[in-house]
Amino acid sequence: MKENSGAIKTIYAVILAVIITGAAVGVGTWYLTRPAASANALTVYTWWTSGGESAALQNLLTTYENQYPTVTVIPTAVAGGAGYVFKSVIKPLVLAGEAPDAFQVHAGYEMYPYVSGGYLASINDTWSSQSWNSYFPSVIASEVQWSGTYYAVPLDIHRANVIWYNKPILDANNINASTLTTWPAFFAACQQLSQNTTLTSSPGWSAPIALGDTDQWEATMVLEEMMAGQGMPFYQNFINGVITNSSDSNLQNATAKFAEYLNYTNANHASLTWDEASALVINGQCAFNLMGDWENGEFKVASKNYGVDYGTFPAPGTANMYGLVIDCFEHPEGVKDPTNSLNWLTVVGSTAGEMAFNPDKGSIPPRTDVLNNATAVAQFGPYQQAAIADYKLITTEGTANGYYLYPSFVHGSAMPQSVLTPFNTAVNVFVSSARLQNSATQATAISTLDSAMTSAISTSSGDFVKSWTLH
Ligand code: GAL
Repeated sequence: MKENSGAIKTIYAVILAVIITGAAVGVGTWYLTRPAASANALTVYTWWTSGGESAALQNLLTTYENQYPTVTVIPTAVAGGAGYVFKSVIKPLVLAGEAPDAFQVHAGYEMYPYVSGGYLASINDTWSSQSWNSYFPSVIASEVQWSGTYYAVPLDIHRANVIWYNKPILDANNINASTLTTWPAFFAACQQLSQNTTLTSSPGWSAPIALGDTDQWEATMVLEEMMAGQGMPFYQNFINGVITNSSDSNLQNATAKFAEYLNYTNANHASLTWDEASALVINGQCAFNLMGDWENGEFKVASKNYGVDYGTFPAPGTANMYGLVIDCFEHPEGVKDPTNSLNWLTVVGSTAGEMAFNPDKGSIPPRTDVLNNATAVAQFGPYQQAAIADYKLITTEGTANGYYLYPSFVHGSAMPQSVLTPFNTAVNVFVSSARLQNSATQATAISTLDSAMTSAISTSSGDFVKSWTLH
């Protein structure tokens, strides 16, 4: 690492100021605190601050620096999982013409405001010079393409629909994870754990399920995977903005399951981040949690072994599905270091870049040549090797046989941002009004949530500019 690029800066306080005082003041604040400009620099903004996230990012930055040793890399990381805070910071910068040379973005809708506003440059030339059409499958490439133009390059593929478990706890209670294929079976296991008084009275025990929803999205993500488990025809309609009736039975079934899930969660859920909730499972204070496979990076940092200390299974009802969360980088218009910005993209989309980043991140590489290379796959741990096998099976079998890839709406890909904010707000209200309540109170909370979600969709109907056909 070069001067300036050692420790990643966390600008949480600045970000809070941005949120509180609004975009104009936020940009001013950033001006006062931003890293010093350098003659030949690459400024990279991400939200990767957890143990696994920052290890993976560091590997990628080092790969770039090794290839471009005269460039000073200036990374800035905005704390807050899933970019919950980051998105409020980056947008005013981009709109003010002050975009960094590179910033993290999800494939799909999350890019759209930047594309439609003319803030991103076409990278068609880079796609063609790097022959990326030969390496990125069209299902992934199509998520970074708008009106025939490529605007970003994928770095990873995360799986959203994963439940993580503490294996010694399940073993001690004779719970076989491979039998937890339905939500009733999963809840029965949670009930069994909550009735084991030896376990529940042991020091440090918290709850059967770990939840950390201080940033709201973490709870909405649980609901997303329950909705996927209602079946892909429903999920496709939902993300296409077609489900506008709050008495839709699939929606009601998903939200009812969500209320039940909450009954088994830890009391301090609202004060924990996603990685603090992961730590409850890692440390044996909870048995399960539902989270994307960036969580694997946390188990790795904690030196835990897959199949010994922990395990995973697909969220019930989603065994043949892969919930896609794809991190990308783009080439903003008018950046200070355009050549460095484009070179960054070539590293991100290269075999070297993807192999530097993905093994520590918990994700799998989007490049098919890497996925099909046994030597490359051998460099991944057992969780990711299993994920690669699942991904390949799902893409090979296809929808005709009931195998699906589906984009995450919680992570910005599948639906416009204008519905995400009201979804997260409604879910947050729901968590506090439904958790551990009697069935009548829960029923009221469920119908309030169903109405809030469907009316958010109706209100934002004009923002649905993409029609998904799931693959
Ligand atoms: C997701 C992102 C992942 C991971 C996670 C938690 O949105 O795609 O790379 O960082 O948030 O922060």
